[in-house]
Amino acid sequence: MPETEPCGNERKSELVFFVNGRRVVDQDVDPEMTLLTYLRSKLRLTGAKLGCGEGGCGACTVMVSRYNPTQRKVLHLAVNACLAPICSLHGAAVTTVEGIGSTRTRLHPVQERIAKAHGSQCGFCTPGIVMSMYTLLRNHPMPDMEQLEAAFQGNLCRCTGYRPILEGYKTFTKEFQGCCGGMAGNGCCRNGKTEQAANGHTANGQTANGHTANGDTGNGWNEDVSKELFQVSEFRPLDPTQEPIFPPELMKADGSEQTTLKFVGERVTWIKPATFKEVLELKTKLPHAKLVVGNSEIGVEVKFKNLDYPLIIAPGHLPEINFHKYTEHGITFGAGCTLTYLNDTLAEAINDLPEHQTRLFAAIVEMLRWFAGHQIRNVGCIGGNILTASPISDLNPIFLSAGCTMTVMSHQGGSRVVKMDHTFFPGYRKTALTPEEVMVSLDVPFTKEGEYFMAYKQAKRRDDDIAIVNAAFRVQFEEGTNVIQDIALSFGGMAPTTVMAHNTANKLIGLKWDNDLLPEACSCLEDDLPLPPSVPGGMVEFRRTLTTSFFFKFYLTVQQRLNLKDVPPPYRSACSLYHREPPHGTQMYQEVPEGQAREDAVGRPIMHLSALKQVTGEAVYTDDMPRIQGELYLGLVLSKKAHAKIVSIDPSEALKMAGVEMFVSAEDVPGSNITGPSIMDEEVFASEKVTCVGQIVGAVLADTQAHAQRAAKAVVVQYEDLEPKIITIEDAILYQSFFHPINKIEKGNLEEAFEKADQILEGELRIGGQEHFYLETCAAIVVPHGEDGEMEIFCSTQNPTKTQMLAAKALGVPANRVVCRMKRMGGGFGGKETRTCVISSVCAVAAHKVRRPVRIMLDRDEDMVITGTRHPFLAKYKVGFMSDGRVLALDISLYSNAGNSLDLSRGVMDRALFHSDNVYTIPNVRAVGYVCKTNTPSNTAFRGFGGPQGLFFAECWMSDVAVKCGISQLKVREINMHREGDLTHYNMKLDRCQIRRCWEECLKQSDFHTRRRQVDRFNGENRWKKRGLAAVPTKFGISFTATFLNQAGALVHVYTDGSVLLTHGGTEMGQGLHTKMVQVAGRVLKIPTSRIHISETSTNTVPNSSPTAASASSDLYGMAVKIGCETILQRLEPYMGKGSWDDWVRAAYFDRVGLSATGFYRTPGLEYDMQKNEGRPFNYFCYGAAVSEVEIDCLTGDHTVLRTDVVMDVGDSLNPAIDIGQVEGAFVQGCGLFTMEEQVYSPDGVLYSRGPGMYKIPGFADIPIHFNVSLLRGAPNDKAIFSSKAVGEPPLFLASSVFFAIKDAICSARADAGLKGTFRLDSPATAECIRMACEDQFTAQFPAAEPGSFRPWAIKL
Ligand SMILES: Cc1cc2nc3c(=O)[nH]c(=O)nc-3n(C[C@H](O)[C@H](O)[C@H](O)COP(=O)(O)OP(=O)(O)OC[C@H]3O[C@@H](n4cnc5c(N)ncnc54)[C@H](O)[C@@H]3O)c2cc1C
Ligand code: FES
Ligand code: FES
Repeated sequence: MPETEPCGNERKSELVFFVNGRRVVDQDVDPEMTLLTYLRSKLRLTGAKLGCGEGGCGACTVMVSRYNPTQRKVLHLAVNACLAPICSLHGAAVTTVEGIGSTRTRLHPVQERIAKAHGSQCGFCTPGIVMSMYTLLRNHPMPDMEQLEAAFQGNLCRCTGYRPILEGYKTFTKEFQGCCGGMAGNGCCRNGKTEQAANGHTANGQTANGHTANGDTGNGWNEDVSKELFQVSEFRPLDPTQEPIFPPELMKADGSEQTTLKFVGERVTWIKPATFKEVLELKTKLPHAKLVVGNSEIGVEVKFKNLDYPLIIAPGHLPEINFHKYTEHGITFGAGCTLTYLNDTLAEAINDLPEHQTRLFAAIVEMLRWFAGHQIRNVGCIGGNILTASPISDLNPIFLSAGCTMTVMSHQGGSRVVKMDHTFFPGYRKTALTPEEVMVSLDVPFTKEGEYFMAYKQAKRRDDDIAIVNAAFRVQFEEGTNVIQDIALSFGGMAPTTVMAHNTANKLIGLKWDNDLLPEACSCLEDDLPLPPSVPGGMVEFRRTLTTSFFFKFYLTVQQRLNLKDVPPPYRSACSLYHREPPHGTQMYQEVPEGQAREDAVGRPIMHLSALKQVTGEAVYTDDMPRIQGELYLGLVLSKKAHAKIVSIDPSEALKMAGVEMFVSAEDVPGSNITGPSIMDEEVFASEKVTCVGQIVGAVLADTQAHAQRAAKAVVVQYEDLEPKIITIEDAILYQSFFHPINKIEKGNLEEAFEKADQILEGELRIGGQEHFYLETCAAIVVPHGEDGEMEIFCSTQNPTKTQMLAAKALGVPANRVVCRMKRMGGGFGGKETRTCVISSVCAVAAHKVRRPVRIMLDRDEDMVITGTRHPFLAKYKVGFMSDGRVLALDISLYSNAGNSLDLSRGVMDRALFHSDNVYTIPNVRAVGYVCKTNTPSNTAFRGFGGPQGLFFAECWMSDVAVKCGISQLKVREINMHREGDLTHYNMKLDRCQIRRCWEECLKQSDFHTRRRQVDRFNGENRWKKRGLAAVPTKFGISFTATFLNQAGALVHVYTDGSVLLTHGGTEMGQGLHTKMVQVAGRVLKIPTSRIHISETSTNTVPNSSPTAASASSDLYGMAVKIGCETILQRLEPYMGKGSWDDWVRAAYFDRVGLSATGFYRTPGLEYDMQKNEGRPFNYFCYGAAVSEVEIDCLTGDHTVLRTDVVMDVGDSLNPAIDIGQVEGAFVQGCGLFTMEEQVYSPDGVLYSRGPGMYKIPGFADIPIHFNVSLLRGAPNDKAIFSSKAVGEPPLFLASSVFFAIKDAICSARADAGLKGTFRLDSPATAECIRMACEDQFTAQFPAAEPGSFRPWAIKL
């Protein structure tokens, strides 16, 4: 490789590092490999997980420890293993989740506490969260709450709603433990508190929300109510002295290494130079060699932008770029200093120096709060951020406005100082440095008296997100005046580079900082920062509005600092910086009845059965299974066109590539290429044409994932575009592209009712789709057994039976030759109900062709492009109502974007139609559902299955009815709310209707009326921050609407040692189904749950299972398990006279009694005829209510959920910890749906939002600050197992209370601007939607371009 010549021909270096105390030496390491791949595939440590591969989810977090010779100490850092190049670990010690504790030895307290606090559901995020916490404790044995929350900025969880994780980990904090953590026992100054904990009170047993410690809420809850989901007294104390020591061998290794290291791989060479001089020499000889420090930019470029860098120089360890020093003018930082180091050093300076000197430092520290997560800040360096020259860099606007200078060096040119001004970034991703130059340091100046500095950022999500727009402003006044002497305004997100509003600044110099300044500045900014309507990134009006809104904030803040009296009090709300209290919450549920047998676990908050394995990394997910002899990896070739004829497929280049074995396509399907989970309208491989981007066209088999994926990209597919290209719902309406028949529910006489109505409301509304974002992407391993066409499929699926059937069809073999086995999923949420079959069938065909085992785990971007999402919906409605608020008639047409195949879209639409009434009795209804066929990936099930969409529209028009009638939102809902015995619009009678109880208890628990007054008062006093309060009820029908699916099987084996192996058709995806089933079996068999085991779900044990979906699995499988266990019990009855369970089992065995039994259950009484509109589509309903309060920033669109109260009806809970976990998890997932998660599609049907970088799900900081959940007491359900109710889906819609609270807050902002009446707000209420709905002088400055006059960058599906 000629490019490496300058480094000499010395031998390849040896990589030496430690993992969990074990020395690892690799003489042939591949520099392209990440630490994560190395751990998982080479060292077989599969605890750290791959969730995204781009530093955005934290599932791969490990702790990296290094000795720092300058600081003379060992530094422990949480790091994303998915972005850490393996060569960067030379001389480091890595600790993974397996290294800190295990179920075989001893759990570490960080593992134990998250498990016992119910903070692990599917468990896929858990090892990463455990390691973030572990690292925090290694650095701060007793952190405070702020540190705790900050530690998780780079971790995501899709299941739990975060509250239980924080609750468990709160117990490590100063706030919880007091001064000594209770270690001083009676001597502890906060002894009372620790005693309380020791008495078994939970961390959440505090009285944050007005509840008393004994659970008496003043609304009827008393002694039989518990708030304890876990016992703090059971927690093992943390003993920091017990942690493993840093390997002494490494104490001198790093930093003092005198030799250059060179690691040479197949395509990439990695050089770790011994001296800085060598770096400069190398850069001169090979100017295009890449410098890499944190790899947080380069890693993403290589993985997702297909950029290749054959030669890497890693200078991060060199002292010349790793230092800080105080100078007369400020602080100079080495370019290689990490962002964490920058933050800590500046924070110290802010503490030590006078305030006026550190205003720039404060702006940097404030910005770093919102800069990525800990894991990225720990590795990403200053030079990396600046020289990537990203137009949305968070630091560059600050450095530009501050006029920072940097020192750069090259071998021939020596050193020079470069000023960061408007010439620094000459073009997209370009800087003023020459390719030979290396940045050495950055001077960050002190500010002076009379100089003010602020920086702002608005992103889709507050934590760990890149900016939509950011800005930094500096102003210097002439001494003792308010006359501007100098001003600098820099912006990110407004052009291909960070830009300075140079003309604006020039115009403002010499002006006074008074009310005349603002209009002048805003008008100049408009000229300085133009954006064409088709600009990449879209959001044109929002981005432009943010520029002036940010400046307005700066203007007021400075004005306030100059002279407080000048800023009218309501305007001060524009100035305050975001501050969030630590989260609190109470969870209340009914205790089991006194006298319930101790070993009977039903109704008790027992821990998820796999929790301990999940927190230690021992739990095995599909891709954690060891490689099988001869196994190959499958790389997919995906369509790049939305609608096109396939002209040719040429795999010849791919077949020549390293490691490649074979190409597979439609021609290789031995059975039928026609497939589909509901009707046969799909293909295993696209054969003649493609109908969406992301459709599977072919696949490449190779020895490794990297080889397979690289080769798949080399397959050349030629297309011929076909018309029409139907992407949006509007396109489908235009072309009448619908799946038929079009279902309709009709009741009463609409015409008459509309005539009778006092008022009529008509409108149109949209709710966007939602990506499942299960942390574990779709994965499968297929093993052909070479005999009779037998094949075994290990698959992360909610639907083993469909996996089996569709693979058998593709293979052309009977179903009895194919077994699907499923141990656990890392989340499903409906996304693995059918779409996984697309992947497993392709894999099965490939395995058949190559006759070897085949593995695949989709990368996050592939998963997001291929597997479909929640359906976007559009509603057109007409509502007739009386002026007192009574709704008489609803005529609603729903349109869903189903994508290119039917999949489950009809069921989704039917459920939306059934839920169009929410909890209201409407006498005359017509609800019609159009399932639109488009050229986008097929959309599918997602928690709620169309319910949330139907319910959302109902709450929207109901809100508008209240506004039109001029009555309160509560009253209009109560007037129309169901009563016992009412008929729904599909004529199902409501019995045991709990909605009014949930509603009233929730209003009371939340102290709604008092808080309504407080919110109104707040809004009267604040112009730019507004609060909103909303209450939302819900009703959710339980059962599959496809009646035949309401059946379930179970298999109970009792072995002669008395242990029980339980199997049923349901799958475990984190929802705790197996835990509940063991509880049920334990009660029926009257044995402790520890005697019962569930190993997996498989099609050869329980056949013909329905998918684990529709929230119905506990009901269905609970009954099947009960029946199976009862059969066993009946057989054991003759032996029960004496002895124990073990004796009965043995006696029965010797008597030749069968100790294996099946259980089968079908839900009785289900039948519904849509034509006649009669029957019972549902077994029963779940009810719930929520009240949420939010605060919005009217100038940026930012929002915070201040408090949420939920009352949920789950019948007699089988397991309150699991049920509360489901309520909270669903709620937070719903918050994502209604406020944050936005799919971004090009007009050509290409998905832009393909990973956590661009698609934001709620993070730790997005949950309600006060989050109180109560399970409705005394509401047994006679229709399901042990009087329980389903819980998975029903609570999700309650998150719309956040949406409606936001709408309420916007109403107040609009009222201040003189705008009254109803207005349209689509879901999700993103920052963009909120800001643009708060119309004011700033939004008015940037009217939208005429639709049709330009081609938008992105469209709504
Ligand atoms: C999940 C995630 C979240 C992120 N969030 C944010 C965010 O909120 N805000 C934001 O602004 N950025 C964000 N980033 C971008 C990135 O983390 C930062 O830009 C970081 O500072 C880059 O530093 P690095 O050391 O990792 O760069 P590397 O990837 O190692 O290098 C980046 C570039 O800098 C060059 N370079 C580095 N040092 C020198 C030097 N001394 N001389 C010359 N060239 C040099 C390299 O050659 C390379 O071209 C995020 C990235 C990820 C993956
Ligand atoms: S897998 Fe590394 S951050 Fe997501
Ligand atoms: S438990 Fe966190 S993603 Fe499932």
